Amino acid sequence: MLLLERPSLVENQFITMKKVGNHNSFSKILFFCLALMLSFSTISFAQDAAKGKELFNSNCAACHKLDGASTGPALRGVVERHEGDVEWLHKWIKSSSSLIKSGDARAVKLFNEWNKVVMNDFPGLSDQNIDDILAYVSEPKAEAPAATASTDGAQGQGGGDAVSNMIVLGALVVVLLLLVTMLFLVKKVLNKVVEANGLTEEVRQTVPVWKAFVKNQFLVICSTIVFVLIGSYFAYGYMMQIGVDKGYEPVQPIHFSHKIHAGDNGIDCKYCHSSARSSKTSGIPSLNVCMNCHKNISEFTGDAGTDYGKYTPEFYTAEIQKLYDAVGWDPAAQKYTGKEKPVKWVRIHNLPDFVYYNHSQHVNVAGLECQTCHGPVEEMEIMRQHSPLTMGWCIDCHRKTDVKLKDNAYYAKIHEELANKYGVEKLTVAQMGGLECGKCHY
Ligand code: HEC
Ligand code: HEC
Ligand code: HEC
Ligand code: HEC
Ligand code: HEC
Ligand code: HEC
Repeated sequence: MLLLERPSLVENQFITMKKVGNHNSFSKILFFCLALMLSFSTISFAQDAAKGKELFNSNCAACHKLDGASTGPALRGVVERHEGDVEWLHKWIKSSSSLIKSGDARAVKLFNEWNKVVMNDFPGLSDQNIDDILAYVSEPKAEAPAATASTDGAQGQGGGDAVSNMIVLGALVVVLLLLVTMLFLVKKVLNKVVEANGLTEEVRQTVPVWKAFVKNQFLVICSTIVFVLIGSYFAYGYMMQIGVDKGYEPVQPIHFSHKIHAGDNGIDCKYCHSSARSSKTSGIPSLNVCMNCHKNISEFTGDAGTDYGKYTPEFYTAEIQKLYDAVGWDPAAQKYTGKEKPVKWVRIHNLPDFVYYNHSQHVNVAGLECQTCHGPVEEMEIMRQHSPLTMGWCIDCHRKTDVKLKDNAYYAKIHEELANKYGVEKLTVAQMGGLECGKCHY
């Protein structure tokens, strides 16, 4: 009886729930829309300043700090200093030299105050760009976020671990399922054996299960095969890992965050890895490249309200100090002391010597994004190897990727010949000869 009553009870609950839902749905939708609009408006505002920060860091940071004088004046609050005369600021930033030449009193005064140091012209910046920069320099000074001693690790580190954990878990589940089915089979066969032998209940109890199991040859063979298969699967997996450094993530002499540089501040990969375009190797930038910006960026301020996890702003500032120690820069006196301590970056990606790999061929000719092979670098707090860099990995991509033939006279000709040969419209790298041993091996 009880059982019969239950479904109706559930149904009742369901109905009441539904009613409540209907009743409120309109106001709920309204609320949802409002919330959505609100969040969008805050996001788009934040983006302006964020965009401005990128532009500031890549164009202006060489001469301006937000707070404190440098080659040029501090820029925080500059809009207020000019009493909101944004139009004048636009003219100044686009071309301060022509403004000074035109005899604009304010411009000439400023120029003289700063010992006639010439500021660059920025004809390339749009009005929107300049508004973004002004939005950024108008933000109030960020309170240094309290040092949070969270233990949940750096961002960007967890991703790879989570995936491999999932794989291990999946494997365990499969093994467990196999074991359960096996036990089930064992029980069934044992029952059959018992029945066939016409054994009684008492006898059944006196024959230990394992003895019955051992006696049944079919079962023994089956389970041996299963165990050997599982064992070799894991052994194979383990052996294939040797020499493959996917995920390799060493500690560097200076904690350098790609997330902060390439991600948060949008600095182009090629600003630092400039030779990726033109040469075989991509190279690590010399510390002089760092000093283009860090003559002025001596402190880490970060974004207000951002939780940097276990890395506090103080930690980051200390890392910038390590850069100064390495190049021998005295930030107070703004000059080099001459005492240098070269930094030895630990190399992460490293193909064996017998492999020929060329960056410019892939980045320039093939037009591949860095991220295709190096993963989401702009999210990596600590640089790690994303791809296995095995021969199988190279070849797999060469099999799948079509060669970019457009706007390339040299390829257009080869393409015609080869496409006729294979009778296809598009050519993969493999068909063009990308699987020939000599192409990758010396
Ligand atoms: C090569 C160094 C240099 C660069 C790069 C530079 N500035 Fe300047 N800026 C100066 C100097 C120096 C002054 C002071 C006036 C002078 O001597 O021309 C100045 C003045 C200013 C002023 C007026 C400040 C005030 O207090 O009135 C603004 C605004 C300004 N710069 C904005 C920018 C912006 C925005 C960028 C980047 C897009 C930029 N500057 C890039 C050197 C530079
Ligand atoms: C501000 C300079 C800078 C920018 C911008 C930058 N990098 Fe780097 N990169 C470095 C430095 C310094 C290292 C060496 C330290 C390290 O490994 O973290 C490095 C290391 C690397 C490595 C590993 C090199 C090795 O040892 O095998 C790769 C791959 C890489 N960067 C890719 C990129 C990509 C892709 C981008 C753009 C999304 C980028 N970098 C942007 C400075 C930069
Ligand atoms: C194009 C400008 C630029 C270049 C080039 C540059 N940086 Fe930075 N760097 C920044 C900015 C912007 C920040 C963040 C400052 C902030 O948010 O307060 C930063 C932050 C840092 C920090 C603290 C955060 C972290 O990553 O640990 C270190 C250390 C640092 N840079 C080292 C370097 C080194 C080493 C190089 C050269 C390989 C370099 N930077 C090149 C602009 C630059
Ligand atoms: C087709 C895949 C691929 C693409 C695309 C790619 N790389 Fe690489 N990268 C590699 C491989 C493979 C290595 C290891 C090379 C070696 O050990 O000789 C490497 C090594 C590096 C290194 C270590 C130093 C060196 O040159 O050996 C840096 C830095 C780097 N890449 C940056 C970049 C940047 C920046 C881009 C984008 C402009 C990029 N890579 C695009 C595959 C790629
Ligand atoms: C993400 C895809 C991708 C990966 C991974 C990749 N390549 Fe390539 N590779 C290409 C493409 C696309 C081209 C064709 C470039 C062109 O148009 O010439 C190419 C061309 C080449 C060529 C010239 C082939 C020829 O016929 O001229 C060599 C050599 C080469 N790759 C070596 C390697 C090596 C070594 C690796 C592994 C370390 C590798 N590649 C990984 C996409 C890839
Ligand atoms: C697209 C580039 C590419 C082509 C084409 C290529 N290889 Fe490789 N080969 C590699 C890379 C990369 C490695 C290094 C793998 C590693 O370090 O795990 C490698 C490694 C090897 C090794 C060392 C064993 C190992 O796995 O480490 C041998 C042997 C080899 N290749 C033979 C060949 C032969 C034979 C051919 C022609 C059928 C060939 N390769 C074609 C890229 C290539």
